[in-house]
Amino acid sequence: MTLRRSVIVGCGHYLPQRVLSNAELAKMVDTSDEWIVERTGIHNRHIAAEGENTSHLATKAAEMALDRAGLKPSDIDLIVLATATPDYTFPSTATQVQAALGITHGAAFDLQAVCSGFVYALTTADKFLQSGSHKRALVIGAETFSRILDWDDRGTCVLFGDGAGAVVLEAQEGKGDLTDRGILSTHLRSDGRHVEKLYVDGGPSSTKTTGLLRMEGKEVFRYAVNYLAEIIEEAFAATGLTAADVDWFVPHQANRRIIEATARKLSIDPAKVVVTVQNHGNTSAASIPLALSTAYGDGRIKQGDVVLMEAMGGGFTWGSALIRW
Ligand code: UT7
Repeated sequence: MTLRRSVIVGCGHYLPQRVLSNAELAKMVDTSDEWIVERTGIHNRHIAAEGENTSHLATKAAEMALDRAGLKPSDIDLIVLATATPDYTFPSTATQVQAALGITHGAAFDLQAVCSGFVYALTTADKFLQSGSHKRALVIGAETFSRILDWDDRGTCVLFGDGAGAVVLEAQEGKGDLTDRGILSTHLRSDGRHVEKLYVDGGPSSTKTTGLLRMEGKEVFRYAVNYLAEIIEEAFAATGLTAADVDWFVPHQANRRIIEATARKLSIDPAKVVVTVQNHGNTSAASIPLALSTAYGDGRIKQGDVVLMEAMGGGFTWGSALIRW
């Protein structure tokens, strides 16, 4: 029996030019390069220039993904953009990207699941493609978290950065077994009771302001490893694949210690773990496609490889996706 699969046919990323190092941060708040590297693995983060908005970063990442796929913007009939830092309260950032790419057909919308945004967006686009309603989707994660950071709070401002990543998904007929290219399994969860552990203290409806990010880092860390291990076990149980079948583990890039603890818990070989957090910090919804694009670009991820993704973030939200590249 054949089955329609969503195959990743291109990926791209973009990081703003301005790099902010740990040493520079140590001049702004009471911190040090040693503390940040030891606790998080982060060395640098990128900061969007004034006037450089989330949609601009997203458009550059999308252009790179289209170029690598050998496709034109007009080949795309769906854009799902994950962001917690949109250009405007409305319209959606996705429609701004659509316009910047010159696309005037199909649909574009934003999706809000904070750091899990890319896994949520990938899952959503996959359902559209599987249904046959759309043929080719741009799935984008793009953020300008520098705009919602409290630059006096050393507990959060050292962790986050700006960036964007994108993939092109194309509906293709598969055989319906695990040798198919494309998305094999996706798993999403949320639990809204944890709002106070990670949130932004403003919004159009509550305060009429944008607000700043607040986080109880230790608490988030504690939940992250367990929730991530659970949601990956779910993906293994649904497919019958195991850690040994995974060619590349591409986790949300929040903290090197969370990534390593999760990989250890699941017995994933450290050599298969893609880590880019050192270069850009936590870029929320952008981090997985940024890491995918980096590992594809340097020749690690190849056609046919099994790639495991996971993320956990504000809400809490969390999720996993197993794909064959
Ligand atoms: O994307 C999903 C959302 N976010 C995350 O996944 C982040 C999850 N959490 C984390 O990554 C870690 O909890 C942090 C990196 C945020 C913090 O690491 P930690 O090992 O949990 O440190 P801590 O919060 O327990 O703080 C230890 C000490 C504290 O000092 P005292 O109370 O022990 O004297 C903090 O005040 O480190 C202090 N501290 C800092 N020191 C230097 C906190 N931030 C800094 C800093 N520089 N930037």
